[in-house]
Amino acid sequence: MHNRGPGFTLAEEKIDDDSKGQKDMRHIMVLNAKGGCGKSTLATNLAVYFAREGRRTCIADYDPQRSSLDWLAVRPADLPAIDGVPGFDEGIRNVPRNTEVLVIDAPARVRGTELNELVRRAETILVPVLPSSIDIKACGHFMSELLEIGKVSRKQARLAVVANRVRENTLIYEELEGYLKDLKVPYIGSLREAQNYVRAYARGLGVLELPEYLAWPDWKQWKPIHEWLGSKRSQP
Ligand SMILES: Nc1ncnc2c1ncn2[C@@H]1O[C@H](COP(=O)(O)OP(=O)(O)OP(=O)(O)O)[C@@H](O)[C@H]1O
Ligand SMILES: [Mg+2]
Repeated sequence: MHNRGPGFTLAEEKIDDDSKGQKDMRHIMVLNAKGGCGKSTLATNLAVYFAREGRRTCIADYDPQRSSLDWLAVRPADLPAIDGVPGFDEGIRNVPRNTEVLVIDAPARVRGTELNELVRRAETILVPVLPSSIDIKACGHFMSELLEIGKVSRKQARLAVVANRVRENTLIYEELEGYLKDLKVPYIGSLREAQNYVRAYARGLGVLELPEYLAWPDWKQWKPIHEWLGSKRSQP
């Protein structure tokens, strides 16, 4: 964890696991049962966005693979600080009390009760989907399951999908676009396949922190996602 000021004690910052009294904290989850679709990539880049906006930001990594926590461990100390907690181990009880935005990186293969439990933790859920036949089909099954969860059907959690690792002008991307546009869930953006994501992850950065001449196309693609997250549509 970064930049804990002097006088910090764990006890002071502990919050209940069920986040009682945390009305001001936003909980944004990146979720898809399919592995490797970009959950951790989206989660780390979202955390960077909010931290750069001056919001006190924390990542709760619910995946014992620890991709987000490993990323955080190499994040340069001179960049906007992001806290991290191992959600897979201890839930969110150790999230710093004054956190404004909690980004939750979910594990793959969550179903049933475990999925219900996770969804309970967020008001906003982003689902990344890859342009591949296997992923599109898996997304269909996952969406049906997600939309049946009470919290989602009652619109107490808002969902949106993001296409990830997109190569434009490919047939499979056209198929994915068509599929996502027909879903009853907002399709808020698409992110290209780019080495920038791989480079940024390895250095503890978000693509917003790469030089503009390299990353401007990615910045542009994130804009509608940031706008949706800033709008009332993304919150119950
Ligand atoms: N837009 C992108 N362009 C290029 N590579 C990407 C992009 N998004 C993700 N990747 C790469 O794809 C791989 C999987 O991404 P990531 O780890 O974010 O997925 P995940 O859904 O978190 O996986 P898991 O289900 O294992 O947790 C990583 O190597 C990551 O660097
Ligand atoms: Mg992951």
